[in-house]
Amino acid sequence: MNETINCIMTRRSIRKYQPRQITDDELNVILQAGLYAPNAGSRQSAVIIACQKKTINIELGKINHAAFHGRMSTATAYISKEQPSIADDATIKDGFYGAPTVLTLFAPKDFLYSTADCCVAAESIMLAAHSLGIGSCMVMRAKDTFSSALGQKLQKEWGIDESYEAKVHIALGYPAGEVTYVKARKENRIKVVR
Ligand SMILES: Cc1cc2nc3c(=O)[nH]c(=O)nc-3n(C[C@H](O)[C@H](O)[C@H](O)COP(=O)(O)O)c2cc1C
Repeated sequence: MNETINCIMTRRSIRKYQPRQITDDELNVILQAGLYAPNAGSRQSAVIIACQKKTINIELGKINHAAFHGRMSTATAYISKEQPSIADDATIKDGFYGAPTVLTLFAPKDFLYSTADCCVAAESIMLAAHSLGIGSCMVMRAKDTFSSALGQKLQKEWGIDESYEAKVHIALGYPAGEVTYVKARKENRIKVVR
């Protein structure tokens, strides 16, 4: 297995982070990976905000959590035993899991492929992070989070035009503890037709 394939196969969603901030060099590499992702029509319209302000991430994380209406996991169907999500553990009240860096990807409201562009960029970002030993977790409800009064205020402060909306969050930070487990994939989801 080459290094790239190994990176793809061993990346896991990380929800337990060290409080220590990632370095600026690491952040820059990760953000560049996001910019170089494929993008519809080569428009390059998605914009990435990296927030490292703890107070803001905590407040937005609470808002993100409040927008969660998903089904709670059960003993037999959980998202992750090793890295419990807000669906697995009702005591977790931060949708960003205390990550020291939280990215938000914004894209035009009126472009058909905005969500796809942000999701593709998110994957490049998460793989780049993993290759540097940095954990990540894709977090949704970004539109809800930024529809809040705080979100709207920040969007303005950060200079993101109101024709853009938040599509995806990515929590980033050094994992707390080793991550060596494999998350098994369901079988029979691939068919090669010749
Ligand atoms: C579109 C999408 C939305 C997701 N939303 C969340 C989320 O809101 N919160 C969260 O903790 N994990 C979220 N995840 C992470 C998934 O739970 C995770 O990828 C899945 O359980 C597989 O585990 P793995 O990433 O460790 O392989 C999301 C993943 C994707 C692709």
